[in-house]
Amino acid sequence: MGAEAIEGLLDEGRTFPPPQDFKRQALITGAEVYDEGNTDYEGFWAREAAELDWFREWDTILDWQPPHAKWFVGGTLNVAHNCLDRHVQAGHGEQVAYHWEGEPGDTRTITYQQLLQDVQRAANALKELGVGRGDRVAIYLPMVPELPTIMLACARIGAIHSVVFAGFSSAALRDRINDSECKVLVTADGAWRRGSVFPLKENADEALTETPSIAKVLVVRRTENEVSMDAERDVWWHDLVPDQTADCPPEHMDAEDLLYLLYTSGTTGKPKGIMHATGGYLTQVAFTHRYVFDLKPDTDVYWCAADIGWVTGHSYIVYGPLANRATSVLYEGTPNFPAEDRFWQIVEKYRVTQLYTAPTAIRAFMKWGDEHPAKHDLSSLRLLGTVGEPINPEAWMWYREHIGGERCPVVDTWWQTETGAIMISPLPGATTTKPGSATFPLPGISATIVDDRGQEVGVPGGGYLVLDRPWPSMLRGIWGDEQRFRDTYWSRFGEGIYFAGDGAKRDQDGYFWLLGRVDDVMNVSGHRISTTEVESALVSHPSVAEAAVVGRSDAQTGQAIAAFVTPRGDVEGDEALAKELRDHVAKMISPIAKPASLLFTHDLPKTRSGKIMRRLLKDIAEDKELGDTTTLADASVVDAIKGRYLDHSKSQP
Ligand code: WTA
Repeated sequence: MGAEAIEGLLDEGRTFPPPQDFKRQALITGAEVYDEGNTDYEGFWAREAAELDWFREWDTILDWQPPHAKWFVGGTLNVAHNCLDRHVQAGHGEQVAYHWEGEPGDTRTITYQQLLQDVQRAANALKELGVGRGDRVAIYLPMVPELPTIMLACARIGAIHSVVFAGFSSAALRDRINDSECKVLVTADGAWRRGSVFPLKENADEALTETPSIAKVLVVRRTENEVSMDAERDVWWHDLVPDQTADCPPEHMDAEDLLYLLYTSGTTGKPKGIMHATGGYLTQVAFTHRYVFDLKPDTDVYWCAADIGWVTGHSYIVYGPLANRATSVLYEGTPNFPAEDRFWQIVEKYRVTQLYTAPTAIRAFMKWGDEHPAKHDLSSLRLLGTVGEPINPEAWMWYREHIGGERCPVVDTWWQTETGAIMISPLPGATTTKPGSATFPLPGISATIVDDRGQEVGVPGGGYLVLDRPWPSMLRGIWGDEQRFRDTYWSRFGEGIYFAGDGAKRDQDGYFWLLGRVDDVMNVSGHRISTTEVESALVSHPSVAEAAVVGRSDAQTGQAIAAFVTPRGDVEGDEALAKELRDHVAKMISPIAKPASLLFTHDLPKTRSGKIMRRLLKDIAEDKELGDTTTLADASVVDAIKGRYLDHSKSQP
């Protein structure tokens, strides 16, 4: 959402202290922890790191050579050991790690003991396929138990996983595989999508024609559709994994060894392979998961409803919860299949205690109607969380009332793929919340707001959100592109200052309010998509001469993609072409990147030096007063587009 759009929704007036019943049992109820985290942040994080099992203790807590940080230098550990073995060794093998709920309603209950065995078998299978320490493994799977299993198997043997969201196209999969030269791909025959089968293996096969680094493909059977198997290259999971021995000792990994890559959209067409390391990452995801969600491993049933294909799933479905010995729900499907009460049915069935989801989902629930949650017993819930985009106060209030029964604290958590873990969020037993505000940086974390010149902005005041101190789960780089790492995050405001790409403001009480992206990255339903990526997809179509894409505010999805397209030569820009282009974008990137509105125009507004003025297009798409047009080369272009855009948007449902 644009800064101005959010501004209109801000309401700083209402405050909600932690509910008394919640506070009585909360892990953290006072503010002292902030002092601990701020007076000596290195010591603070070292105490949190010591909660994990280390094979060798670190020599140095932090080695900070901006923009490169190393945490817990010299220490060795294994993430899978910390997520599984140590809990089983402590006598919790029978505890449920995941209540898995398939989209069609089939279920599996997986204990820590079983998961440990499955992970060791999968790890041995990976070894048999030639995977070793430091090798990259691409994972393109739906939300099935084999997904966390294979991630942990990689972690166990020191391989670096690169999970690609199953909704991505074969072209997107291909590019991600090639960028980091993955050796093995793990995929499935298909994925359930509202009762029909999405042909995952077929998509993967298309990508595999252009991925020379992939030697072997491991295929999970899920939807039982016909797939073609390459006898040399492809092997079924059920033929290879179950026969392996359930004994695979964990590798001793250096704290700074990479745990995974996760690709995310930046301001150019090429996604960035964000690098996450082992020791610092696990320390911060475990800490934040425990205290932001107030996790009680013996009694809670925690549910993060994200997809593991995004960072939220990595940190808060897999690594944080398992490190903390949580019992989690793992759900394969969508919120409205087979009906609009599916989430509430799941909450009731498993007696879910914490629910973590996205504002877009909440706004959809509001639209579908209060009667759906009202049909179900949601009294087990004791905490609600949100992530991924700014939450408007109305949605926050609705969530608190209709899902939380006014007894659950709501934690709005700000963070990014790059930060690895939650950075700005309430502590539910200690922080007085304001609907729509992520409140304060967590203990041990430092964030502030600066103006154009990098000067800190006072309170109250707004500008660019920056992180001015290293943190344990910070990205270690962009795979294969040191320069882009420096340019994107570290060059704008001075040495050691991380630029998040978000606008933010602080109110008179110092509360942080996130205002959305300030760069060319859109946030559609909590998914990051770059304008350039969609533009490149559009111009790769033979009928398109030029295209410009902007994110316009949308009440439902936060932002919606608006595309302005100039067809080639005498090509007719009609409905049929519009549909073809939207499908083309879905094929090149993902259905989530399809433009919501598409307008054909003979010209795009440009500066005299030929740069497309996206800002003006955004104003047009949002039907706003036009901003400064003095740098336009040809002012009549805007009027022409404006007239047509309005007609066009009227004809849109
Ligand atoms: C946005 C998702 C406002 C923000 C974990 C950020 C948010 C981008 C919030 C990262 C929030 C995430 N309030 N905005 N609570 N959480 N964002 O990498 O623009 O998929 O930069 O990580 O989402 O998206 P990513």
